[in-house]
Amino acid sequence: MRVDIISIFPEYFAPLDVSLMGKARERGILDIHLHQLRDWTHDVHKTVDDTPYGGGPGMVMKPEVWGEAVDAVIEQGRACGQDALPRLIVPTPSGRPFTQAVALEYAEEPWLLFAPARYEGIDSRVVAEYGERLRADEVSIGDYVLAGGEAAVLVMIEAVGRLLPGVLGNARSVADDSFAPGPMANLLEGPVYTKPPVWRGHEVPEVLLSGHHGKIARWRRDQALRRTLAMRPELVARLDRDELDKHDLRVIEEFEEQRREGTSRQTP
Ligand code: ADE
Repeated sequence: MRVDIISIFPEYFAPLDVSLMGKARERGILDIHLHQLRDWTHDVHKTVDDTPYGGGPGMVMKPEVWGEAVDAVIEQGRACGQDALPRLIVPTPSGRPFTQAVALEYAEEPWLLFAPARYEGIDSRVVAEYGERLRADEVSIGDYVLAGGEAAVLVMIEAVGRLLPGVLGNARSVADDSFAPGPMANLLEGPVYTKPPVWRGHEVPEVLLSGHHGKIARWRRDQALRRTLAMRPELVARLDRDELDKHDLRVIEEFEEQRREGTSRQTP
């Protein structure tokens, strides 16, 4: 996958040299190209922003510089053999939520172009312009406001990058993710343990030492359900009732009873 990032802080992306993403780049699975937005300015101060029309606080990023930058980066990618246009991703707190489903969708793309903004955002005509020519998404990574879109780009690249074939050693770890499609879809992952079997008096749940795969799978599902009920009850409300078996319904009922009595706990 080719990834281009245009930013006034290309140095912000140094973490992409590290760990899993660094290895994916070394192996040529992720082909990341960083660009300094100011390279497309024409004044001595390399100005990228201006005051907002209509007044108000802060500054807005100028459309001309973004237009020239995006056009040039598309041209570069095409010259390197990309035969389709990139998916343009503009991080903004007012975008559509970035979820595991969106990460899976982006992981299918051959080419992503990220345009992280600083200040109060990019002049809205930029997304309008490119939305007419290619697929342009305004995306939010959560209901909070960052100082700029760069951290959001790092989050999205890591979420997408680990889904690319050959990036994770064990293909099952993607299938078992919280939010991954499948029997555990929309359930948070439950607790995990490793050796020693007793640490500071805390014991590993016995069932995990039993070697009984059926019982372990059932226990894990119960724990996932209990954790989701405790942390994200709205996800449980959204579960497809037809996919819940009798045992699940009993776990939900028990949890709700314990909550009413004020005794609900994460792990037995
Ligand atoms: N830029 C600032 N805050 C953001 C957020 N929550 N998501 C994406 N981009 C942002």
